[in-house]
Amino acid sequence: GAPVLVDTFGRTATDLRVSLTDRCNLRCSYCMPPEGLDWLPKPELLTDEEVLRLVRLGVTELGITEVRYTGGEPLLRRGLTEIVRRTAALAPRPQVSLTTNGIGLDRLAAPLADAGLDRVNVSLDTLDPATFKRLAHRDRLGDVLAGLAAARAAGLTPVKINAVLMRGVNDHEAVPLLRFCLEHGYRLRFIEQMPLDAQHGWTRENMITAEEILDRLSAEFDLVPGDAHARGSAPAEAFTVDGGPAQVGVIGSVTRPFCGACDRVRLTADGQVRNCLFATEESNLRDAMRGGATDEELLERWRAAVRAKRAGHGIDDPSFLQPSRPMSAIGG
Ligand code: GTP
Ligand code: 5AD
Ligand code: SF4
Repeated sequence: GAPVLVDTFGRTATDLRVSLTDRCNLRCSYCMPPEGLDWLPKPELLTDEEVLRLVRLGVTELGITEVRYTGGEPLLRRGLTEIVRRTAALAPRPQVSLTTNGIGLDRLAAPLADAGLDRVNVSLDTLDPATFKRLAHRDRLGDVLAGLAAARAAGLTPVKINAVLMRGVNDHEAVPLLRFCLEHGYRLRFIEQMPLDAQHGWTRENMITAEEILDRLSAEFDLVPGDAHARGSAPAEAFTVDGGPAQVGVIGSVTRPFCGACDRVRLTADGQVRNCLFATEESNLRDAMRGGATDEELLERWRAAVRAKRAGHGIDDPSFLQPSRPMSAIGG
């Protein structure tokens, strides 16, 4: 087989997103209910060795050039620093990044940077402690802000911030969030809420669209769209703010889909390949590994999974069905 992961639309997957746990210490309402979820039982999770076997195969045999660790909350995974160290030691060395809610990063940013982590994306939807508590059902805003500062100090830059705006909850904070990020040197991206929450509470009406976000920001800032060419496969459309160099991004997954340029493939914490956030089918590499599959057999399964990737997420199709796995078990 070819040394790359390609689908029938000619897209090549080079960006591997690996969920290390489905657990989380927050309960963001766009993701999961306040009471949490039935977490995956430990024996079903890939061990560190199993994760690293698949990551090694992706990087050395399949053309993966960026490995992003996600969750749930990846900082809750005990072996994270060692996993990062061994990922960064692969040849050719991949970019190694992390998407986190920031809790615990105050302590872990420096060791992770030492282990070879290149950069972090941190979720931050509000600057108001009461709104944070309402949105995430935990009183942890201070921990997130401390984590952000530590990430910047450790050189995990550019530190990107992900904000999901929800109508009537935090949608009045677009401008304050951008001011905060400009002041602290974080790169802010606003994300359209996607139908991936475990409670199935997403509605199109409550989704704050890319257009609305840009309207709100444009009332206060001079935004100039970046070069469409330079965007490549990035999910965010970039805008320079007030003449630059600062930028703000908008990830319009629903109303401005970027599926045509998608270069991602995902691995869940229980070892399933997902060719899309919205995939309805998965390929079980864990059971193959545990059944004694050779590297070549794993590679063939993985290639087949990517080949089966659909053209797009299909949210606008009348027949759209939300995937049965929620965001926290996919990794975003
Ligand atoms: P970089 O741009 O490499 O820094 O990372 P990223 O923005 O892809 O990753 P991050 O984990 O920070 O995700 C930001 C938002 O983009 C989240 O809401 C993700 O769910 C969303 N996202 C990431 N990949 C995809 C994708 O393949 N499709 C869609 N629709 N959304 C995605
Ligand atoms: N829609 C859009 N983004 C989401 N995230 C979590 N759930 C959703 C959703 N339903 C974001 C988080 C995190 C990233 C991985 O995905 O804010 O930053
Ligand atoms: Fe946790 Fe991320 Fe889900 Fe929030 S969005 S509950 S931080 S996994």
